[in-house]
Order: sequence, then C-alpha cells, then structure tokens
Amino acid sequence: MKHLFSLLFLFTLSVLSAQSVQSPSGKITVNFKLGSNGQPVYAVNYKNKAVVLESALGIKLKEKPALDANFEILDSKTATFNESWKPVLGEQASIVNHYNELTIGLVSKESKVKMNIIFRVFDEGVAFRYDFPRQAELNYFIISDESTQFNLTENNKVFWLPGDFDSNEYEYNETKLSEIDNSKINMNNGIGVKSIPGRYMVQTPLMMKSPSGLYLNIFEAAVVNYPVMHLKADVTNFKLKAELVPNAIGDKAYLQAPCVSPWRTIMISDDARDIVGSRMILNLNDPSKIEDTSWIKPMKYVGIWWEMHVGKSTWDYAGSQNATNFGTKLESSGRHGATTENTKRYIDFAAKNGFDGVLVEGWNVGWEDWSGNWKEEVFDFTTPYPDFDLAAISAYAKAKNVKMIMHHETSGSVGNYERHLDRALDLMKKYDYPAAKTGYVGKIIPRGEFHDGQTMVNHFNFVARRFADYKLMLNSHESSRPTGYSRTYPNYVAAEAARGTEFNAWSIGNPPMHETILPFTRLLGGPMDYTPGIFEIKMSYYDKNKTEQVHTTLAKQLALYVTMYSPIQMAADLLENYEKYPDAFQFIKDVAVDWDDTKILQAEPGDYLTITRKAKGKQSWFLGAITDENARKSEIKLDFLTKGQKYKAVIYEDAKDADWQKNPIAYTIRTVVVTNKSKINLNLAAGGGTAISFEPIK
Ligand code: NOJ
Ligand code: CA
Repeated sequence: MKHLFSLLFLFTLSVLSAQSVQSPSGKITVNFKLGSNGQPVYAVNYKNKAVVLESALGIKLKEKPALDANFEILDSKTATFNESWKPVLGEQASIVNHYNELTIGLVSKESKVKMNIIFRVFDEGVAFRYDFPRQAELNYFIISDESTQFNLTENNKVFWLPGDFDSNEYEYNETKLSEIDNSKINMNNGIGVKSIPGRYMVQTPLMMKSPSGLYLNIFEAAVVNYPVMHLKADVTNFKLKAELVPNAIGDKAYLQAPCVSPWRTIMISDDARDIVGSRMILNLNDPSKIEDTSWIKPMKYVGIWWEMHVGKSTWDYAGSQNATNFGTKLESSGRHGATTENTKRYIDFAAKNGFDGVLVEGWNVGWEDWSGNWKEEVFDFTTPYPDFDLAAISAYAKAKNVKMIMHHETSGSVGNYERHLDRALDLMKKYDYPAAKTGYVGKIIPRGEFHDGQTMVNHFNFVARRFADYKLMLNSHESSRPTGYSRTYPNYVAAEAARGTEFNAWSIGNPPMHETILPFTRLLGGPMDYTPGIFEIKMSYYDKNKTEQVHTTLAKQLALYVTMYSPIQMAADLLENYEKYPDAFQFIKDVAVDWDDTKILQAEPGDYLTITRKAKGKQSWFLGAITDENARKSEIKLDFLTKGQKYKAVIYEDAKDADWQKNPIAYTIRTVVVTNKSKINLNLAAGGGTAISFEPIK
C-alpha cells in the first residue's frame, strides 16, 4: 500500500512538472519541465528529432532572487488559436495565425514571485515569453540578465553578424557555428560605430542550416519596452545564450508588473521556403492600434539621395563639414543637392513616371556639423537651407500630384530629436508631407546608450506612435531591427536596420549573397527600405579612380523589387540613369509594392531566392529571382497564375555574357504569352537575377 502510494505520488508529480505542446501539424513538439533546483527548462523536437536540447529559461533580477531556479509549478493550461487577419499593407491580403499554446504558472519558492512562461507552437516554429502578472511580490523591477538558452545539437552552418550593440550594418559571415569569432573578421562597417562586447557575440535573427539539412532561425518578436536580444555562442558545445543589450549604467531593462518579455522564437523546417514565407513574427505582435488606417498608403519613390552617396552633390549647403555655427552668411558651394530647382526636377520625373513620392535629404540646416562630432544639437528639423523653398516645393508637388517625403537625420542625438519632434511633425503637416525617413548615424546621445538598448527601442517605438498621432508614415534607418511592431503600428511602413545599398557606393559593399540572406533574417521582422534599382553599377562611372561597385547585375536590381519586400520602395538611382535604360526602367514603373499574395518558389539562404507576388487588387503577378556569386539555371512552373487565363510575360534577364563584375549592365528583355501550365527557364548570371511581370491578356 505504502509502495503504491509513493508510485502514485511520483506519477502526479511528473505529470505536473513535465508538460508538452505540439504544433498544429504535429511536426514540432516543445517539452517543458522543472529540472533539479526547480530550474525551468525546455527542449524542442522536429519530426521526433531533437533540435534544441534541454535549455535554461528565466531571468535574473538586480534586486531580488533570480527567476531562473527554485520554482514550483502552480498550474498550467493549454489553448488553440486559429484566426486570420488582414494587414493594412503586406505581402498577402490575409495572414493565418494558427498555434497551440501552453502556459505554465510558476512561483518562486524563495521570493514567492509569480512568473508565467507562455509557449506558442506554430507549424514553422516555436515562441515563448516570460509573463509577470500583477502581484504584491513584484512591482517595479530591474532585469540584470536573461538566462534563456538555445542548446543546439549540431555544428550548424550559421549566417551571422558580429554582436554590435550599435549597428546591424554588416556583411553576413557564413561559417560553422564552431567558427563564430569576431576577432577573425573585418568589423569596420565603414560608419564608425562599434560596440562589440566580445568574440562570440552575434546578432539575431540568426539563420542556420544543420548538417542534415534542417533550417533553423533564432529571433524575437514584439520587442517593446525591452532591449534587443543578441546571443553569446559557446562555440565548442553549440550552446547559445540570450544577451540583452545594457543601458548606460549596465542595467538591462526596467519593468513594472504586469508586463511581458518579447517572444523568443525558433523557426524550424526542412524546407527553407517556410522560413522566408513565415509570418510568425508578425503574428506574435498585437493587432493594429490604429483604427482609421485609410491614410497609410504604399509608395514608390525617387529622391535626392544616391547623388550624394556617389559624390555628385552634397548634403550640406556650404560644402564644408567643419563649418560650425552655420548662418546664412555661408555661401553655397554650388554642389548642394537639395535645391528647389533640383527638387522640382525630381517631382517632374516622379509625376511623369507614375511615382508617388520624392525624398529629399540635406534640405535642412545642420549637415555642416552632423557626423562624427557627437554633438547634442545639430539639427532642429525645421530650418531649411536658403536654397530650399519649402512652400514653393510643397505647392509644386501638390500641383503635380506627388507627395514629398521628409528626412530627419538625428545623427544619433535622440534627446534633441524628441525635443523637436512635435514641431517637426507640425511642419510636415503644414507642407503636406505624409511620410518621413529618419536616421540615427553615429553614437547615441544620451551618451552611453546603445542603438539596441531599452532606451532606444522605446524611442523608435515612441516615434512610430507619435507619427501615428499625426497620421504620418515612418521609415527608420539605423534603428534597431524591427520585430513585427509594424503590425501594431502599420504606419511604421519600413526600416533599414541592416546593411543597405548605400554601402556599395563608398565601401567594400555588400557581396552578391547579401540579398539572398536578408529575407531569412532582417526581413522576418518587417519591411526593409533597401533602396534597390541601381543601373549605373560601377562607381568608376562617376570618378574613374573609384573601384567600388554594386555587387549585382542590372537585372538583379529589378528582381530585388520583388524579393525585398517593402510597401515603400525607392527607385534609388539618378534620374538620368533611368532615362538611359527606359526599357529596363519599365519594370520599376510597373512593379507593385503592396500585395494580395506571395509564393516562395525557390530558396536557399546565401545562394538563391525566387519569389512571385500578386499585386494588391489586381490580376498581375511579378516575379523576382536572384542568385549569389554563382550563375544558376533552373526551370519554374507558372502554376500560381489563374487557370485558363493568358498572360503577357515580360522577362527582364541577364544577357548571356552578363556578370556582376565584368559586365553588370548587360540585360535582355523578351515577351512571351503564358498560362498557368507554362514553364520558364531562368538563366541567372553570376551575381545576377531575373524579373518578370505577368499581365493578364483581356
Ligand atoms: C544613413 C542612411 O542609411 C542613408 O540612407 C542616409 O542617406 C544617410 N544616413 C544620411 O542620413
Ligand atoms: Ca544606413
């Protein structure tokens, strides 16, 4: 009898202390248990094979006992969720959000603090977060560390960025997990900010491929009032640990219960297309908090931008980076890009070619002094240079039915931007600018804060909300990378937050594989303003001494409009360069930026990507195929097209002798009639691509 009793007791205990939850398809299982010392641990299986071994969970508090051991399980509950929602702008008209959820209620035996761990298991991955309910035992608290681990099973191939707390504008390193080592790579990203706390720190999203061909991605969703999560790699044991970005005094996060942490996510599939096509990160964010979204619109735009990057004109008026205390006394250098006359030229071009907007950088006072000086007050975001007539430009744009896009470079001086923000946004309203691009080049002021810390995450999110109050759209550059906040604030239409096209103009640039990786990493969190469309590819065109170039063929630049999703998409090159290649430019004029449907046809991180999308509210489809430094041939089926419908397909492809280094501009254009039974051969040059438009024939 006594024996039986203890057996029964053991059984209940184990039922209580070990729990599991599966994905709707049953392919992914998460197991949770309390280990020795009451330590919460989880493990993940994919198709019955371990992919994450038992790994620690929990956080450490600055002023209270840690919440990563000494727990008891209070209760647990499961739930299933299956719903679809409609993004305001997006890659598809409707997104399915289907998962099984397991919530474990824990209480610390030591401090009596209650903490829940919530798991959500989707068909393409796992998410979990810490939830701190309202309670007498925990009110205001400081997180000093996060104990979350991801203990992997194999020496995966990894696409990693050095764990810089200030910049994500790096090239990807493609190595084995065991070879992650910041001391072995060139960490000069050319923009002078570098805060890399150690050899084995890497950024998320971290894309991996196991030796047996499993694709894994570790990232996070809904980073709100919390710092960004980087990962510290134990390169011998294939273990990764969450590293939260600290603030100026070394704390990680200040929170007040009730509150939640961001979601930690692990995507898993044996088909790489599932990762690129996943909407898990968006699904883990709150629905839109903006009720009337009618003012949020997709935009294709041109701008006074690349001409500064290639050195044809300057941001600053006087042509002197050292002219402090700018006054109207300063003479124009004659090279200033943002003049009224030049802006009108861009407005004319936009109007003529059906573009929605014109971005102008360098329109406002401060550029003499902006970068590298780490100064508190550089820009006021409201004072134009004497040769930029805001009222005249705004009236001219209005008459031509073109919208102006504002530019707010903060040069990292964030307190200054917040102080001026309302006036800056009033100015935008006054002159009818519906959107702004922001920038955070350089080190942050308040000094000691990092781009990826809680303070800055809160700043970026605050700016998005403030823009929403004014019914304005936001496109941030040099922000921390998005984690799906654009679902909650759909006016946050895009961000750069990775190494963009600009690097090709003045640094070693972005290698051809770069754009085949970004959709597996940066783009999972939201649209990217990558600024594609460069037709004059070699910088020697501007200055024969220059050796820099965009690592691409011209046809690949067209394909990027499909593979790099953004509802605000730039045609980045100089207007005169588009005028030289009107037949290729036609694709940029035609391509949509907002979509009803998206299909990932071919995908391999670091190698190639083929995506096709259906234009929002139309019957036309667009396809983009890109490759890395290797030429590739393949055949694609057009079975995504509507059955029985004939389409005119215009195929923009690399010429036979095209090559990103030797002959990047060579392209051919051919037109064929196709149906959903047709096939098309893709012939991608080294560093090349193909872009196709499909228009139904009436
Ligand atoms: C970096 C941004 O990414 C780029 O687009 C911009 O032109 C410069 N900063 C100046 O603001
Ligand atoms: Ca940038």
